[in-house]
Amino acid sequence: MNDLVKNKPRAYIVGEVEFYNCKISLNQNVLIPRQESEILVFYALQRLNDCKGGVLLDLCTGSGCLGLAIKKARPDIQVILSDISPLALEVAKKNGVVNELDVEYLEGDLLAPLGHQKIDYLICNPPYVTDFEYEHLDSSVRDYEPKLALVGGNEGLDFYSALSKTLHAYINIGGKVFFEIGKDQGLKVIDLFSDPFWRKKEIIRDWAGHDRFVFLET
Ligand SMILES: C[S@@+](CC[C@H](N)C(=O)[O-])C[C@H]1O[C@@H](n2cnc3c(N)ncnc32)[C@H](O)[C@@H]1O
Repeated sequence: MNDLVKNKPRAYIVGEVEFYNCKISLNQNVLIPRQESEILVFYALQRLNDCKGGVLLDLCTGSGCLGLAIKKARPDIQVILSDISPLALEVAKKNGVVNELDVEYLEGDLLAPLGHQKIDYLICNPPYVTDFEYEHLDSSVRDYEPKLALVGGNEGLDFYSALSKTLHAYINIGGKVFFEIGKDQGLKVIDLFSDPFWRKKEIIRDWAGHDRFVFLET
């Protein structure tokens, strides 16, 4: 049976997509970048307009699409791409080279690879699909895209919950956070970051009108 008959996503067959002015190579070790994530870059760049320089971490980077798109638009920002999967990082590194973007790469669990380094901005599209949703995903997603990139536990909130306990120690005052979220997760994510350390909290909708992003400021 050929790949098209087997319902393999076209992006994996072609092996490349356009993402916010970057050429992003793909294989099945990374998620196919979604349109919502381009919207995330659009809003993040808007909110970075009044900031000069600084360090941005693209956590859960996968193909590197988010951090590379930011670096391309904002060469003054120092960008770090980080993922727990060495196979995903290989793809991100290739994309950094192809797009001629000078970024750093870290491998490991969440913020641990930063060590003592602090950041000014975090952009993160973590796995946020619930265990239940995963079982009911279209086969073109479940059979081809990495489970590690998709599932965020029983409520899909595991990554936001873990970050809500540690991020304050890694981000400078005046820092900004740009999360992609599942469409029913806005209020729950805001609740996780209820500590007054987070001065400003916003839930933003995607172009289909679903809650899709949470932005925080310290
Ligand atoms: C939803 S994908 C996002 C990929 C890409 N940023 C995008 O927007 O298309 C989530 C990524 O998180 C990575 N990941 C999963 N668990 C992780 C962890 N504990 N620490 C760091 N990265 C992790 C996966 O390998 C995957 O690449």
